[in-house]
Parts: sequence; structure tokens; C-alpha cells
Amino acid sequence: MAEEKTTLTLISGADKGIGFATAQELGKRGQHVLIGARNQERGEKAVKQLKDGGIKADFIQLDVTDKAQIKAAAAKIKAEYGYLSILINNAGIAMDHHQPASELSTDTIRQDFDVNYFGLIDVTQAMVPLLKAGRPAKIINVSSNMGSMGLASDPNSRFYKVNSLGYQSSKASVNFATIIFSKELADEGITVNSVNPGWTATGFGGRPEDAPVPTGMQDVAIGAAQIIKMASLPMDDTTTGTFTENAGTLPW
Ligand SMILES: NC(=O)c1ccc[n+]([C@@H]2O[C@H](COP(=O)([O-])OP(=O)(O)OC[C@H]3O[C@@H](n4cnc5c(N)ncnc54)[C@H](OP(=O)(O)O)[C@@H]3O)[C@@H](O)[C@H]2O)c1
Repeated sequence: MAEEKTTLTLISGADKGIGFATAQELGKRGQHVLIGARNQERGEKAVKQLKDGGIKADFIQLDVTDKAQIKAAAAKIKAEYGYLSILINNAGIAMDHHQPASELSTDTIRQDFDVNYFGLIDVTQAMVPLLKAGRPAKIINVSSNMGSMGLASDPNSRFYKVNSLGYQSSKASVNFATIIFSKELADEGITVNSVNPGWTATGFGGRPEDAPVPTGMQDVAIGAAQIIKMASLPMDDTTTGTFTENAGTLPW
């Protein structure tokens, strides 16, 4: 009988926040987690914390805006493991702080896109050969309800009045990447899905991590739950090209 492969999961931006909570839970469920982080010290600290909890974890230096680092990360995974089972594109930033679109600098918009969209594309392209080697495989793109054009254009939605051109359009682009990659990779045994964590108490967008948690802001374990659910589907599950959150399906 062929030996079953360990589920090997790379998570970008996994040194803290939703990425770390996702790594912790997937590790507890038996996955071997690769902690992608741009900051080596924080990444290695996260790996130590996971290992101390009995989780199989390793550090991968990964600034998603640094093509040389992405290439080196793929080479390291290839040399050490030879495959990848799950890629969770979680690294993300929001730099525009609700400035009116008419005043928002394109330099700021570009910063959002460099990490949230181009970084995600570069990492995905670099990891596809490893995911093919590990197939059936999954790509999970951490998107946002803020990137839903359906919600943003619905006067009955609480997102109708939200104004964050850089962040919102970068996450809408992430969703488009999900749709396009899901179709390209369907015949390769690789599923691609977008997930919205929802408004979550992390340091996201510069929020002090020890600040009081406002009403409606959810705990990080709840923010990570739908990503964990999608990453825990059986490896041969064929769900692809979806955009979901804890409550169900979201409009693109
Ligand atoms: N929190 C929310 O309310 C919320 C809602 C909807 C969607 N999301 C999405 O959820 C994801 C995780 O956010 P979070 O709430 O966990 O925020 P977070 O605590 O700020 O974590 C973001 C992670 O992304 C990393 N990152 C930023 N730029 C990077 C780069 N160039 N290369 C690699 N990693 C980079 C950060 O690394 P450093 O430690 O080096 O900064 C950090 O590890 C993001 O994609 C975000 O858009 C969050």
C-alpha cells in the first residue's frame, strides 16, 4: 500500500493574527505547517510556540513582495519536502485608512496591491509546481467582505458606505484571481477558494493588539474558523471557485 503523504501547509503572514491561529489549529489537526513570515525573529518565535505545543512546524522566510525570497522559499520546500499540499495566501495589509478615493494617493493603493494581490499571485505561481507534485491540493486565498463588489454596491449592505479604494479593490482582485486560477487548476487536482475571515481582533491595519475589543469585532479563533474549515476538507474534495465565510456564501 502506498504511504500516505503528510498534509504540508504553507501559510503566508503566519507569525501572528489569523495566520498564526490557523497554523495552530491545522497543526493540532495533524498538518505539518510551514510558517511564512517576513520577519525571521517573529517567524521563528511562532514556530517555537507551535513546536512547544507538539505541532510539526517550520519557518519559511517569505516577504510576499520579494521575488527572490519567494523563489528561495519554493526551492527550500522542494529540496526539503518535494511537494506542498495546501497554500494559504493570508498575508495582507490595509494602508488606505478610509481616505476618500478622490484624495487617496496611488502610491498607497499600490502598497495594498503589492502585498494583497501581486504578492499573492507571485507566491501562487511559485508554489503551483509544488502543489502539482502534492496533488490533490488546495489554495485558499484570504480575501475580505470589503472586497465583495456585490456587498459594496448593495444599498442595503453595511458595506455600501465603506470607502477604502486600495484595500477593497485589492481584495476584489484577489477574488478574481480565485475565479481564474480555480478554472485553470481544476483539471490539475488543485482547488482554489476565497475566504472572508470577518472583522477580527488582530493588529490588522495598525490596530494596537492590546486595544479594547469593540462590539462586533470577533475573536481571532472565529476569524480563522472558515479558513480552517476549508483547509480541513478531505484532500480529494473538489469544492472550487467559491467565496465563503463562517455564515455561508458571499456575493462576489
Ligand atoms: N482582521 C480583520 O478584521 C480582517 C478582516 C477581513 C480580512 N482580513 C484578512 O486576513 C488576513 C490576515 O490579517 P490579520 O487580521 O491576521 O492581520 P495581521 O495580524 O496584521 O497579520 C497580517 C500578516 O500579514 C503579514 N504581512 C504583511 N505584509 C507582508 C509581506 N509583505 N510579506 C509577508 N507577510 C506580510 C504580517 O507580517 P508582519 O508581522 O511582518 O507585519 C502578518 O503576519 C489579511 O489578508 C487580511 O486582509 C482581516
